[in-house]
Amino acid sequence: MTYHDRSLKPVSSRIIPVQPFDYVVFGATGDLTKRKLIPALYHRFKDGQFDEHSRIIGVSRSKLSDEESIEAFVEPSYLDKKTIERFIGICSYVSNDVTDESKWADLGDKLRDDPKVVRAFYLAIAPDLFGPTCEYILKKGYYRRDARVVIEKPLGHDLASSIAINDEVSRIFKEDQVYRIDHYLGKETVQNLLALRFANILFEPIWNSAHIDHVQITVAESVGAGTRGYYDESGALRDMVQNHIIQLLCLVAMEPPASDDANALRDEKLKVLRSLKPIVNGDVARATVRGQYRGGSVEGSAVASYQDELPEDKKGSRTETFVAIKAEIENWRWAGVPFYIRTGKRLQTRASEIVIQFRPIPHSIFDHAEGAPKPNRLVIRIQPDEGVKLFLMIKDPGPGGMRLREVPLNLSFAEAFSERTPEAYERLLLDVIRGQQTLFMRRDELEAAWRWVDPIREAWDTATDAPQSYTAGTWGPTGAIALIERDGRTWHEDGH
Ligand code: BG6
Repeated sequence: MTYHDRSLKPVSSRIIPVQPFDYVVFGATGDLTKRKLIPALYHRFKDGQFDEHSRIIGVSRSKLSDEESIEAFVEPSYLDKKTIERFIGICSYVSNDVTDESKWADLGDKLRDDPKVVRAFYLAIAPDLFGPTCEYILKKGYYRRDARVVIEKPLGHDLASSIAINDEVSRIFKEDQVYRIDHYLGKETVQNLLALRFANILFEPIWNSAHIDHVQITVAESVGAGTRGYYDESGALRDMVQNHIIQLLCLVAMEPPASDDANALRDEKLKVLRSLKPIVNGDVARATVRGQYRGGSVEGSAVASYQDELPEDKKGSRTETFVAIKAEIENWRWAGVPFYIRTGKRLQTRASEIVIQFRPIPHSIFDHAEGAPKPNRLVIRIQPDEGVKLFLMIKDPGPGGMRLREVPLNLSFAEAFSERTPEAYERLLLDVIRGQQTLFMRRDELEAAWRWVDPIREAWDTATDAPQSYTAGTWGPTGAIALIERDGRTWHEDGH
């Protein structure tokens, strides 16, 4: 059986169906809906997690070609005609202009007034439409106290705009009805961080500054960004650090919550956010690096520079496509343990991982002629090739004395599990129906993240220098290497 076949098996035989729902997706012809939402719902439907008692109601100005989007974004071997037909049978579309009240009529005919049918609104639309959409939901009588609203980034471009967006939504929906998606939290390997830390006795006693030297978080992408309309306004700091990377950092650094209750977990993440040492003024140049790619070659293909990809009116942009930051957490557990984070477009390869670098052993009994034992390292591979590697020292087999060698204890999820790994949205979309907010960001978390990111952004905006240039297909600007090497450490790049 090939690896490919195994990855396509249904997620699990232990599937628990969710309550029937009416999922209203605003922005039904948008990219997110086509690429992520519809395929995710299709997968869950195919696996039997919901059936014809549920409905998906797309709302958009133009009509969605559903069949097309399912076929384009679901692995071909996971498609079957019968299921597509059944799935399309539960989808319906309403042509609606969220900015025009006179065009709001039809939605009411689609929604069922049954308290056992969960009602969810997914706003896959621009954030400036969140407020008016929520107002109309109320005005037209579609609001229920138990209804849910799902929103997603960009939830603002700084703290003030994020507060404004959340204020608008919260005029209608209470915090326990709001599901702020950070799709990284829906990734299996990210949830595995919680399992690794809190379902094993091994790591927690040494998960602190006494035993950990530093942490690295890398989210590397090989794709470019210059042709993506909104990216130039956003840049890597807002697009990836403010949300995904900070969430990863929180899951690594937080104290054990008392339970997996949504607020217990989010309270602990919030404490980490509040303990992040502010990087302000002069510290910004010392602790951060921003870069922008020039032309190069990625995975064997020549690629243009960010500037060349941009439309004419944006040429000369100083938007960063790469960020590296040395973050510090000011609390008892982490004082003195830097968290080096980096993310970028057009890097050598797509690879996201968290590296926990342990301290050296206190005393070695071995002859060091062959080199001192290397400190242990735990590598949590988020994607692709999901898995966990623990680097240990062992004796090199054979005669010839006590030579030590570093080898990984390697848990590859593809080899260990025969089930296909669900996409983040599959989990998150149905958590909304389950009323499970654990993997969604609470408003205070989001705002604390902006509070930390804003001064960095402001310093960059007023800086006279441009982002450092790096060749597409490398690991980013030399400044990022210098950032960590200044501290006598190096980025983990093994196996990439
Ligand atoms: C999105 C960013 O949130 O995450 C994109 O806006 C980025 O720029 C994407 O490419 C990465 O997601 P994933 O799941 O492919 O790692």
